[in-house]
Amino acid sequence: MGKNADLKRIAELREQLNYHNYRYYVLDDPVISDHEYDQLMRELIELEARYPETVTPDSPTQRVGHAVVGGFAQVEHRTPLLSLSNAFNQKELEDFAKRVERWAGAPVDYVCELKFDGLAVSLTYENGIFVRGATRGDGQVGEDITQNLRTIRSIPLRLREPVSLEVRGEVYMPKEAYELLNKERAEKGEALFANPRNAAAGSVRQLDPKVTASRKLDIYVYSIGTVDHELLTTHIDSIKWLKELGFKVSPYIQHCENIDQVWTFIETWTEKRGSLPFDIDGIVVKVNSLAVQEKLGATAKSPRWAVAYKFPAEQAVAQVLDIEVNVGRTGAVTPLAILTPTLVAGSTVSRAALHNEDYVKNKDIRIGDYVVIQKAGDVIPEIVRSLPERRTGQEKIFMMPQVCPACGEQLQRQAGEAAVRCVNFECPAQSYERLIHYASRNAMNIEGLGPAVIQQLIDAGLVEDPADLYQLRYEQLIELERFGHKSAENLLAAIEASKTRPLANLVFALGIRFVGSEVARELALHFGSMERLRQAEYAELITIDAVGEKIATSVVDYFSRPENNDLIDRLQAAGVNMVQSKASGSQFLAGHTFVVTGKLERFSRREAEDLLRSLGANVTSSVSRNTTYLIAGEKAGSKLTKAQELGITVLNEQQFLDLVQQTGRN
Ligand code: IVH
Repeated sequence: MGKNADLKRIAELREQLNYHNYRYYVLDDPVISDHEYDQLMRELIELEARYPETVTPDSPTQRVGHAVVGGFAQVEHRTPLLSLSNAFNQKELEDFAKRVERWAGAPVDYVCELKFDGLAVSLTYENGIFVRGATRGDGQVGEDITQNLRTIRSIPLRLREPVSLEVRGEVYMPKEAYELLNKERAEKGEALFANPRNAAAGSVRQLDPKVTASRKLDIYVYSIGTVDHELLTTHIDSIKWLKELGFKVSPYIQHCENIDQVWTFIETWTEKRGSLPFDIDGIVVKVNSLAVQEKLGATAKSPRWAVAYKFPAEQAVAQVLDIEVNVGRTGAVTPLAILTPTLVAGSTVSRAALHNEDYVKNKDIRIGDYVVIQKAGDVIPEIVRSLPERRTGQEKIFMMPQVCPACGEQLQRQAGEAAVRCVNFECPAQSYERLIHYASRNAMNIEGLGPAVIQQLIDAGLVEDPADLYQLRYEQLIELERFGHKSAENLLAAIEASKTRPLANLVFALGIRFVGSEVARELALHFGSMERLRQAEYAELITIDAVGEKIATSVVDYFSRPENNDLIDRLQAAGVNMVQSKASGSQFLAGHTFVVTGKLERFSRREAEDLLRSLGANVTSSVSRNTTYLIAGEKAGSKLTKAQELGITVLNEQQFLDLVQQTGRN
């Protein structure tokens, strides 16, 4: 065949493949077999190999590109991606309709859509060609994830008309694909994604599009951001037009004449949502007329012409088997409900914090009661209410003990505080919790010194407080059950190693009330030595950014107690580091703010943080707009989601290593 004929065939094949792609991925109605599709694709690949100069980015062969180097670029949205205000019940929905109709000055009709639980993206087309895909980011600025979005087959690379426009949609992972992915990951011993939304978010933010391509993502396009002509008059028409252009739009959409019809739609889907092949977390209700939408406008955050009805949190009923009382590190005594193991929103719950006595009284929770439980924010289990109608008369009213269950000391309740405290500094329950805290990863990171070993050491009368750890001897450990030569030596070595931890770790390890690891770091940096911190006055403490009145008072109070000063003296005598070492080496990462989350393979989180700091980076514990990079290990959770929402560059462990090595070379 001659070149001209080949070029003609290339064009033909592209058109056919685009069409079949559309039939398959958008309409879900293929007209040829997979085998025939593969044959056409193979023919095109071969022809393009012969004429590489003809390959354009919108060719169906060009879905999977090269990895992005150095993180995603930022993209400013031409029209901001707003979020939606919420309605949690029928009344709030009706209030929304009243507001809308008052502003519109007439009755209006609505469109109901499912609220897909994935992540919002913006897709830009120029003359019908897909040129840019971005995350929502903070609504104003997102990240360029074009290469990854190109791998999603239901996103057209070329539209059926040469229009220029920007559309919005939700990328999601179907439940089946999610389950399969997690099954594969479990088999490989990799961390599992918590839900399909996290899996989808994690997948589109991969630097290597090959990974995204392997993840079976899908999209529903739900609105137009910017368009170069204005022929449309209603939202429902714009959805129809989007479908004609080649976008995948949701079939679960309904035009409603009034808010009663909207409510019926909501009721139907509240019932049926479990049967959908993907997760939804509510229903989006939009004013249909685009003119009315324009008239209503938007607040800074959300349009006035739309609302998201959120499904109620998933609830279940459990029985309270017992109410236990726990003594924490700072002496706070808190009740904890022990429940019959019950499945709620995908995981088994068997205990729920009851916070304090008033909480138990106000909710009238009794031992033996049946209670409604739910996961607040779908994570922390809580008791919503008890079910007195199911009582048999055998239930017992919970009484907060008068004395500490661990040491027998009279409990105290300070004015203005709901918590009851054990103020006996020598209370064994507190010593135990303090030791656990002292040895924990972000504190002195003493490997092998977990709760069980600590309990053993306390029971054997070998330790009461952290300073005792440094007096432990091999002969004592080897006497203990389950201790052998190796484990005794390892533990002693780990305790020895903890002497060189940075001052910030030690300050955190002391367990001063309200002093978390961030504040501890600030204190260590500001004062430079334990000696200076110990003598710090309230007036100086309060000048530190991270320190407010509550923390300053707590620090002063801690160092005013002789038992605490005695502990510090003994730690010092044992050789524990008490000074802040000066930052050394290069400052390549100065000006960048990092957050490290999840489990890393080659470092402890703390080590990674220390490494970053040694290169001049600022490291914080929570993700905000000021964060430059999030380093996400396995099982990264809410911080990863937040970073993704804010469009912050996420690095995996390897990328982090590359960055560190790269900065080291420069
Ligand atoms: S319309 C200006 N429609 O919900 C409002 N949003 O808080 C534009 N979402 O992150 C949103 N399904 O990604 C719209 N059918 C739907 C949606 C939907 C899910 C998400 C959206 C955004 C959030 C709104």
